[in-house]
Amino acid sequence: MRSRKKIEDDLSHSLLQWYDREKRDLPWRRTKDPWLILLSEIILQQTQVSRGRLYWERISKRFPTVGSMATTDIEELLLLWQGAGYYSRARRLHELAIIVSRKKADGGFDGEIPSDYEELVKLPGIGPYTAAAVASIAFQKPIPVVDGNVNRVASRFMADPSPPPKATRSWAGSLLDPSRPGDSNQALMELGALVCRPRNPQCVHCPLVAGCLGREDAESFPLRKKNKKKVEKFDALVLIDENGLPFLSKRQKNVRFGGLWGPPMGDIDTSSMDKVGEISHHLSHRELQVTVWRGACSKGIDPESVPISNLDRRILEMAMTS
Ligand code: ADE
Repeated sequence: MRSRKKIEDDLSHSLLQWYDREKRDLPWRRTKDPWLILLSEIILQQTQVSRGRLYWERISKRFPTVGSMATTDIEELLLLWQGAGYYSRARRLHELAIIVSRKKADGGFDGEIPSDYEELVKLPGIGPYTAAAVASIAFQKPIPVVDGNVNRVASRFMADPSPPPKATRSWAGSLLDPSRPGDSNQALMELGALVCRPRNPQCVHCPLVAGCLGREDAESFPLRKKNKKKVEKFDALVLIDENGLPFLSKRQKNVRFGGLWGPPMGDIDTSSMDKVGEISHHLSHRELQVTVWRGACSKGIDPESVPISNLDRRILEMAMTS
């Protein structure tokens, strides 16, 4: 009888073989530079790989080093981040760049991304997932990564509809090849994205199928949470000048879309305004229902010259074209 260790080694080997054959050619997989790898993981926290790639290319070209971001105004990063959503990621990344660039004597890292999980996880915008991804991919530390994809693969493999996080981490750890921990982690995430997909999983192509307990009924794992989105309703007021330009102001740091520019929003006195229409905008945990109003102002600004969220672009387009 084969030992448990031998079975795990075989699965780990077959996972890496599959990855070497099937992995997507993604630009951050061609670099060993920890800063560029960290940038990819921050972007991939909430942006799909296909779109994330464009943002990574744009941002890494403009900020090829951590120091180049630290010495640039946040507004320039927000302009490049436009459309990717979850702008707090950009603000925290900018703070991270400033901290990492400081001298060690001043509590920084002399411009080097730390390799230690415990140091990484203390930096702004870096949670356990990103710290494990950066430590393993950029620094070959044997720390398992658990994201949504890995959780789904683990749930199916163990036929457990809701595996405790500890069990999932330990399962992912058992598949880590200590000589290639970053590739093992990326292989599991890649498997979830390409083969062990939420719907229509391709079990015949799966390198782990030999040990998978959930394969007969893969789609019933993991248990889906019913997350009814909270609805938030508010008004947006687009004031337009005689040249057709809208009034825009920079939002405070600690509100939604903070640091970006937009028309006034919230609970507004709209008694002398024209109602233009309604917009429903979906974020991951919320649905925003916005009533758009229009009025006049003495001086607007060019909306192409400042960073603006996707929702605000939709609002402006509705008010300025109807
Ligand atoms: N999702 C987040 N990071 C990833 C990576 N490095 N490879 C594949 N999917 C990912």
